[in-house]
Amino acid sequence: MLLPEGVFIDGRSGAVPNANERYVKPVTELRGLYRDAAAFDAYVAQNPAAVGYEVAGFRREGADIFFGTTTMYPGKIGDEYFMTRGHYHVRRDCGEAYYTQSGNGVLLLQTREGETREVEMAPGICAFIPPDWAHRSVNTGAEPLVFAWFCQTTAGHDYADILTHGMRRLAVDRDGKLAIVPNPGF
Ligand code: F6R
Ligand code: ZN
Repeated sequence: MLLPEGVFIDGRSGAVPNANERYVKPVTELRGLYRDAAAFDAYVAQNPAAVGYEVAGFRREGADIFFGTTTMYPGKIGDEYFMTRGHYHVRRDCGEAYYTQSGNGVLLLQTREGETREVEMAPGICAFIPPDWAHRSVNTGAEPLVFAWFCQTTAGHDYADILTHGMRRLAVDRDGKLAIVPNPGF
């Protein structure tokens, strides 16, 4: 039988001591995400061990929902801030919630039909991600961006579309300020 429990989430670091799923995403595995391939190569040559983000998940066998944190480190490649891969859920009826606990960023969202939206990520803001909206988070600040996410266990991740085509809009640094611009490569 599934039993209720309280799970500690450290909103500063994103640590979830009782997490039973974890992965670390090194920047070297994010080749192709950034438009400026030369800047990417220069970055990884100088920072071969750099980590883009880490994910910790708390999942109980047989449960309908699971949750966890994503901790995104600050950085930039070319004029693009560090970002997650971005994905649709396999199940088109499954949305998600992202509750930002520390740091600053922006959540880029888009539909298959071409709608785009951005939601600010700042401590206290819980982003509602409706079903079938692709979502990518971007750390636009100088500190780690930590958010807790809550999702159905069977949602699944579909990375292919975004990995192949990118997202319609980019979050870039323009003279030290965040700008959301159309992706010329889309
Ligand atoms: C789960 C979810 C987050 C992301 C995580 C990393 O549905 O949206 O847990 O998986 O922030 O981002 P991706 O998976 O896009 O690399
Ligand atoms: Zn998701």
